Amino acid sequence: MKILVIGSGGREHALVWKIAQSPLVDRVYCVPGNPGIGAIAENVPLKVDDLPGLLAFAKREEIGLTVVGPELPLSLGIVDLFEEHGMKVFGARRNAAIIEASKAFSKDLMKKYHVPTAFYEVFTEVEPAIAFIEKHGAPIVVKADGLAAGKGVIVAQTVDEAVSAVRDMLSGNAFGDAGSRVVVEEFLRGEEASFLAFTDGRNIIPLASAQDHKAVFDNDKGPNTGGMGAYSPAPVVTPAIHAKAMEEVMRRTVDGMAAEGRPYRGVLYAGLMIDGDSVKTLEFNARFGDPECQPLLMRMKSDIVPVLMAVADGDISGIDIEWHDMAAVCVVMASGGYPGDYRKGDVISGLDVAAGMDDLYVFHAGTGLDNGQFVTAGGRVLGVTGRGTTVADAIAKAYEGVAAISWEGVHYRSDIGKKALSR
Ligand code: AMP
Ligand code: GLY
Repeated sequence: MKILVIGSGGREHALVWKIAQSPLVDRVYCVPGNPGIGAIAENVPLKVDDLPGLLAFAKREEIGLTVVGPELPLSLGIVDLFEEHGMKVFGARRNAAIIEASKAFSKDLMKKYHVPTAFYEVFTEVEPAIAFIEKHGAPIVVKADGLAAGKGVIVAQTVDEAVSAVRDMLSGNAFGDAGSRVVVEEFLRGEEASFLAFTDGRNIIPLASAQDHKAVFDNDKGPNTGGMGAYSPAPVVTPAIHAKAMEEVMRRTVDGMAAEGRPYRGVLYAGLMIDGDSVKTLEFNARFGDPECQPLLMRMKSDIVPVLMAVADGDISGIDIEWHDMAAVCVVMASGGYPGDYRKGDVISGLDVAAGMDDLYVFHAGTGLDNGQFVTAGGRVLGVTGRGTTVADAIAKAYEGVAAISWEGVHYRSDIGKKALSR
């Protein structure tokens, strides 16, 4: 079978890496891919939002399954389009992907179906939002309604900061349509975890637990990014927390989406805030997390292709997923300045050394090729992912890989996985 993966980040490199190991697969294509993906699959120079172009390519190449990585094509309805044309596709339909595309939708859904989440209100006008902020005080969280590439959430430490975030979003044009509505919500304390599950709209199969590191600097300092590193398993997700997340978050959400006439098929990602035995939902994503996908797929023992196929076919009742009894840790190596402005085009050295290391894989995200050399081409450049018997071993392995690789201005966190060790 031929498989097409859509996207170009570390998540898609991990998906391609895992899919290519399947005995069911003859050939893997990736749109648009990146130079790391190009070493193990065939990159196709199309755009992820060029839905007609993607459909024509999939038909022409007789693709047996298309796997959608990022949220943009999902929210544009790529799954609906492929299904209308009888093409098998893994991902959430447009009316289900709204769970990520609109924060107001997902908050209202959680309220209606009793999924635990922060207290909130949705606003389209500045004045009532300010009144709400002044009433509740800081810290308080302001979120642009729509997709804002990870930049639409302001965790405000003061009332002034929250008020100016609301003004920026509602009266400025900084967020375009994404900012025409805002969610203002209660600040939650605790430790975050990424809880992912495959679902066919009825059955739910959780993936292994994982934790992301959103802030750019060590000890969770500095602005939020797409994620500076991740590990699995995450000990904060104890068996009791796992059971609660399955019942109160995943089950209620999947049933709620079905009841709304928006059956959810694909991978559902819940960002959780865990505080003692309390589990609250920060957000939903309609896709695999990145970088979480990298350590998760390093730990997946089962062939992923029958799982993705079963989801696409709408029946995962016969699926069982086995995990390696090992830990995996991904350290993101980023361009200095990210998530703000950063330079591109710096030559990356040491990839050949890292490639020779056991239990280590370097997933590419923002890389380019210049005269046969790998160069930086994005904010998050590489996901250096190590595996070990324990989280401590996996951390050591990942940082051994990181130490071998360098470029001018490289930035990475030196504390990925530390929270797991303190438990
Ligand atoms: P979101 O995209 O909604 O997950 O928000 C991005 C990040 O902002 C989360 O991963 C948290 O670190 C932080 N965050 C979002 N909502 C809250 C909240 N209600 N309380 C505390 N932190 C939050
Ligand atoms: N790592 C967080 C996300 O993928 O949204």
